Amino acid sequence: MRLFRGTFLDTPDDPFAGGALRAEDDGGLLVDDDGTITARGSFATLASAHPSAVGVDLRGGLVLPGFVDTHVHYPQLRCIGALGMSLLEWLERCALPEEARLADPAYAVEIASAFVGALANAGTTTALVFGAHYLEATEALFAAAERVGLRVTSGLVVGDRGLRDELLTTPARAYDEGLTLAKRWHGAGRLRYAVTPRFSLSCTAELLAACAALRNDVPGVVVTSHLNENAAEIEAVRRLFPGHSSYLDTYADHGLLGATTVFAHNVRPTPGELDVLASAGATVSHCPTSNSCLGSGLFPMRAHLAAGVRVALGSDVGAGTGLSLFKEGLQAYFVQQALGDAGVPLTAAHLLHLATGAGADALGLGSTVGSFCDGKAFDAMWLRPQAGSPLDILLTHASSADDALAKSFAHATSADVARVWVAGEVVSAR
Ligand code: GUN
Ligand code: ZN
Repeated sequence: MRLFRGTFLDTPDDPFAGGALRAEDDGGLLVDDDGTITARGSFATLASAHPSAVGVDLRGGLVLPGFVDTHVHYPQLRCIGALGMSLLEWLERCALPEEARLADPAYAVEIASAFVGALANAGTTTALVFGAHYLEATEALFAAAERVGLRVTSGLVVGDRGLRDELLTTPARAYDEGLTLAKRWHGAGRLRYAVTPRFSLSCTAELLAACAALRNDVPGVVVTSHLNENAAEIEAVRRLFPGHSSYLDTYADHGLLGATTVFAHNVRPTPGELDVLASAGATVSHCPTSNSCLGSGLFPMRAHLAAGVRVALGSDVGAGTGLSLFKEGLQAYFVQQALGDAGVPLTAAHLLHLATGAGADALGLGSTVGSFCDGKAFDAMWLRPQAGSPLDILLTHASSADDALAKSFAHATSADVARVWVAGEVVSAR
């Protein structure tokens, strides 16, 4: 049994539903040998009740739940920072050529290892990851995640039209390779499988049906794809699927919509699509630096919340500009501010919830991770900036826990994350 001591911040009560930031200054978290939190409270009370617990001193800085990134592409790690393009040109010129390089298994292993390490260093302990278009390269991601100990849900990315030839598959092959991967990795430790059609623009109806068949045949899988990101993309989907009333319908009509379906972007939804997403219980992964970088638009968070659509946060690397959800949280805030009266006035507690509990719920992991409640796994990061650094000064002089958290979203980077745990095991240490 260990007793962690520090300043613990989390959002067990959803701030979008009236909850507030929960803060325990000089708090304690009792964690059993399986990495499960068994008690939470003041350090002094827990220390006297559990004198034999081994102490772990995390005073100075903040301890936050591990971040949950609900949309990120592992093969695009080296694509970060390509500026000046919108979605379809960026895919053609940057993302897809790099993704084709993962046909080389040795290259894929190198990228997978760097990706998983960088994700852990960013304080991200759980992620829904777009794999590669190649079976071996997707294996490499699962193997790297298993080695480091992260909670990763991922899958083979599939498309059978509209991509460069090397990336194309067939419905039968997509099903067979997906099943092979799911049998090996779905439910193996902290890993799970995600059925991953790239987007409707790269899929025939037959391929989407094969994805739905895989989803039906492997209980508990997540489904993930892209939705309503860019005006030219939406128009192209409309032309490719003339019998469907909306972009969302291209997925829904093929049996790919449900409570553990996560769609990235949805910058330009129709009111009808929002209603369908809400009644399905699906989640939209808001990817604010990607939306800004590719000029995709300003995310209509207010319309999503008003319709009752679940929203979480995604880095969308490599269109997104980095793996840190501190940066995504800040950009989400900027975008809502830029929308003026049409935006949602976000507090630091909202940002933390988007980056933790909302993501956990989206992936069906809300009873396991996302906050520091009893019975959940100790998935956490210790935000501990170097002494005398700007963030250290900001945190030292913060007027409240909310203020300290806001300053963290404003200024923190992966370099400020000193240690990261999944189920009580260290997965990254500075
Ligand atoms: N739509 C289809 N593929 C992609 C991708 O890799 N990134 C983004 N941002 N959108 C996509
Ligand atoms: Zn994406």
